[in-house]
Amino acid sequence: MDTLACVVGARPNLVKAAPLLHELGGRGVRCSLIHTGQHYDHELSRAFFDELDLPEPDAFLGVGSGTHAVQTAAALVGLEEWLLSHPVDGLIALGDVNSTAAAALAAVKIHVPVIHVEAGYRSGDMRMPEEVNRVVTDHVSSLLFPPTEDARDNLLREGIQEDAIHPAGNLMAETFLRHRDVARAREPWTRHGLPEGGFILVTMHRPENVDERARLLSILERVQRLPLPVIWPVHPRARGPLADVGPGSSVMLTPPLPYLDLIGLLSAAACVVTDSGGVQEEACLARVPCVTVRRSTERVATVRLGANRLATPERLGKTVSEALESSRAWAVPELWDRDVSARMADVLASVAVAVA
Ligand code: UD1
Repeated sequence: MDTLACVVGARPNLVKAAPLLHELGGRGVRCSLIHTGQHYDHELSRAFFDELDLPEPDAFLGVGSGTHAVQTAAALVGLEEWLLSHPVDGLIALGDVNSTAAAALAAVKIHVPVIHVEAGYRSGDMRMPEEVNRVVTDHVSSLLFPPTEDARDNLLREGIQEDAIHPAGNLMAETFLRHRDVARAREPWTRHGLPEGGFILVTMHRPENVDERARLLSILERVQRLPLPVIWPVHPRARGPLADVGPGSSVMLTPPLPYLDLIGLLSAAACVVTDSGGVQEEACLARVPCVTVRRSTERVATVRLGANRLATPERLGKTVSEALESSRAWAVPELWDRDVSARMADVLASVAVAVA
């Protein structure tokens, strides 16, 4: 494939796109970058472009926030328009956000083959918008890159042709491993007055945890009772109710952090409490035990390996205690290394794809 386009929209897309765009650029493959504008705040978008050395997007669609239909529809219209005037041999869609599913649908309907990075993850919970986005994107894709063996098995179980599936590893892992040492050397915990290895990092942004004020405050109340100081970078979605937490609390709230600060803190934390998919993976790589406040996870490998535990808000304290005492000697999933983008670029160079 000589000409590609890669669509990004939200923070985790940027982390995955960076190494692949660099690798393709280094090989002389033309890959346009289209930003839907799903995330537009500096902290959720521009800061990531700067730190990950991402090229300026060739197009910015300005989709912004809205209901699922409004956001997805705006991205669909903008992407179709761009693709009709810029013919490409394939479109790379990453992860599971609304921009991902919009990109896949826009492309496949006008016969542009879709390449899905992070294919095959399944939580089994169709009430999560990301699960819908995963299923839709996988089933219109011509080339699928599952990050784990269980993700590959899910695709096969759902009837996707084996020759379309190319396990190449996890781009999130490559970016983490390439930046971890620099991020840690900056010692971001000292800026927040936290002892290395002696604090808990909390992130929370899933609608089921933050959209309902009572649920979010009940999580906060349990977080306040954890046995170590807590740092909690607050996603804009959770800003409202958390604004009431005053100084003097053991919980330090900060605005969303740039990538290097976040992974620097994560790698020096005693434990991570989250509902983010990417953070579950990063904690696994950093050998920091993770507690995921969700009913289910699509990152099942991290749970099976002993790096991650699911918890309800009610069981948060007990599960964090178990995590703090657990061994950190788990195995990291196969192919979660620094060569993921190189393997993907090899596949893209050697495989002919057509719309399935
Ligand atoms: C989105 C993804 C989620 C991903 C997360 C990473 C979907 C369905 N969800 O969730 O999978 O884990 O990004 O952060 O695609 N907002 C701002 N500034 C911004 C963007 C959003 O203030 O730049 C606020 C707005 O109030 C907006 C809300 O956050 O309505 C939700 O934004 P949205 O893009 O719909 O989803 P996220 O919760 O960010």
